[in-house]
Amino acid sequence: MAIEKRGKATLLLLVCAFWMGLWRSNAQLQVGYYDTSCPAAEIIVQQEVSKAVNANPGIAAGLLRLHFHDCFVRGCDASVLLDSTTNNTAEKDAPPNTSLRGFEVIDNAKARLEEACFGVVSCADILAFAARDGVAQAGGQSYPVPSGRRDGIVSTSQEALGNLPPPSAEINQMTQAFANKGFTQSEMVALSGAHTIGLAHCSSFSNRLYNYGPTASQDPNMDPGYVSQLQQQCPQGNTSTVVPMDPSSPNSFDTGYFNDLLNNRGLFTSDQTLTSNQSSAGQVILYANNSDVFFSDFSKAMVKMGYMEVLTGSLGEIRSNCRVING
Ligand code: HEM
Repeated sequence: MAIEKRGKATLLLLVCAFWMGLWRSNAQLQVGYYDTSCPAAEIIVQQEVSKAVNANPGIAAGLLRLHFHDCFVRGCDASVLLDSTTNNTAEKDAPPNTSLRGFEVIDNAKARLEEACFGVVSCADILAFAARDGVAQAGGQSYPVPSGRRDGIVSTSQEALGNLPPPSAEINQMTQAFANKGFTQSEMVALSGAHTIGLAHCSSFSNRLYNYGPTASQDPNMDPGYVSQLQQQCPQGNTSTVVPMDPSSPNSFDTGYFNDLLNNRGLFTSDQTLTSNQSSAGQVILYANNSDVFFSDFSKAMVKMGYMEVLTGSLGEIRSNCRVING
């Protein structure tokens, strides 16, 4: 009897410890983290994003992608912002990252934040706020961003290549790559909706236009009209031209991307492949027809992404310049 009671008490303790652990891991970041330490933090970032997007609408996409590429490599620790040094090639100089843009927006926000509240706001949080503000500025939905991240001190190019899925990825590879990072296939579909804004270099998809395979010279999963249009924009061997990923509304954060997929007009294999699986295809149809559901799922998945391997408490540092670790 006594043994049974002790067993029950142990079980209760374990359950409590489990929930407290969960609570603590969720409490690592907090909405309004800078409310007292730097009340203008989020407003300053929003102003800088707004200024930059007004001058160049494509910057919204750049900022969104920066946050994704930061979080998927070593967590959301602003490692993507560090410059290479004589002894180290940083993430930003790895092949998938050389087309990243928007760094100067983060620099401008950081400079103003250092003036307003020296040494308080991390570059990793600036990235998370800027991604959200870019989406909102492009017509998407804003959402509260939990903050309190600190900045990492390591950034290596090799890590970028291994952690970011390539545009040639098919559904199973994509699902696995996101599962490795703790995401469901459904969250992956929602996040892929980010490709409703922004640009891509011809080299990211030209394999679908020329010498595709032994049985077809173009990818049979791409609308032939779209193939010819892209062939004109991207002559064989061209690596420098960029094209919009959602041509009908490249700067609007809307459901255009999902409508493109339904018309076999996804730009990358990794985009079009979302219609090749029954459950992901169902989700594509849902989002194409319901922007509220897409916006809501996208915001939730972005918040989750923002928690990836974050540094908090006494880990890492608050960089004074987002491009270099503190001396
Ligand atoms: C699902 C796997 C993904 C793959 C394979 C992928 C791949 C790519 C590639 C190859 C480009 C174009 C790069 C270039 O040619 O210049 C691109 C652009 C972009 N990606 Fe992704 N991506 C993925 C997921 C995501 C996610 C999760 C987000 C954000 C939440 C995102 C946001 C963007 C944005 C906004 C752009 C346009 C950037 C600009 O215009 O500067 N991507 N992506």
